[in-house]
Amino acid sequence: MISMRFLILGRGKTGSLVAEVAAERKHHLRIAGAKENPACAALTKEKLHDIDAVIDFTTPHCVVANIEACVKAGKNMVVGTTGWYNELDRIRGLVEQHKTGFVYAANFSVGVNLFFDVARAAAAALRHDYAGHIFERHHVHKKDAPSGTAIALQQVIREVSGENEGLEITSFREGEVVGLHEVVLESANDRIYLCHDAKSRRGFAEGAVRAAEWLAAKKGFYDFKDVWREL
Ligand SMILES: NC(=O)c1ccc[n+]([C@@H]2O[C@H](COP(=O)([O-])OP(=O)(O)OC[C@H]3O[C@@H](n4cnc5c(N)ncnc54)[C@H](OP(=O)(O)O)[C@@H]3O)[C@@H](O)[C@H]2O)c1
Repeated sequence: MISMRFLILGRGKTGSLVAEVAAERKHHLRIAGAKENPACAALTKEKLHDIDAVIDFTTPHCVVANIEACVKAGKNMVVGTTGWYNELDRIRGLVEQHKTGFVYAANFSVGVNLFFDVARAAAAALRHDYAGHIFERHHVHKKDAPSGTAIALQQVIREVSGENEGLEITSFREGEVVGLHEVVLESANDRIYLCHDAKSRRGFAEGAVRAAEWLAAKKGFYDFKDVWREL
């Protein structure tokens, strides 16, 4: 594996694990939290000149400014922060304009992406008199609801079933739950439960670091759910 130079944005619960995984995989790291990066101060072309890729696990409030600064500086990015997807098309255009590489995901866990495939298969139920509901549980500190993963799950199932309505999401915030997503499909005769329960945040961190490695030789705008099989 080639050693890369990463700037990790965010020293929080996930960013710190990304740093741990990247160090274990023998990459060189710089890390910037809110203090080192007010108004994207750490993201000028000069400050990023020796960086191969930037990995962002920050907040919905600063992520778009971070993305704009890094892409305009010509840097590849992996973005795990959620809560900015209303800007997706504009950011895709910016990435294409600046010919950089970009991978984003509401969930960088390989297990969750496998779960998307399971949900995709189960979505056929909605064409056979089943009603669907998504439940998601996260820790009380989580800033956005519903989770980006629940919204992605809803999109995946709606795409396959051709149903644009239904499949409501109910969010719970309790204790220190890392991330639990359930899809319940119910007919008059039975109930199908699908569940993914994250045991730790390491799955997210490993997926994000491996996505940054995968992106090294590439340009373009990618959703992790379309590329994780290639890692
Ligand atoms: N895609 C995935 O697989 C995945 C997995 C888990 C979480 N997430 C998402 O990732 C984001 C972070 O989650 P988390 O649980 O790690 O949150 P967290 O523990 O609250 O960490 C957020 C971090 O962002 C930092 N920050 C705030 N403004 C910044 C700025 N301008 N520049 C650099 N860093 C800045 C904060 O720094 P200070 O501590 O210095 O204030 C904090 O360390 C959330 O949107 C969450 O939904 C995604």
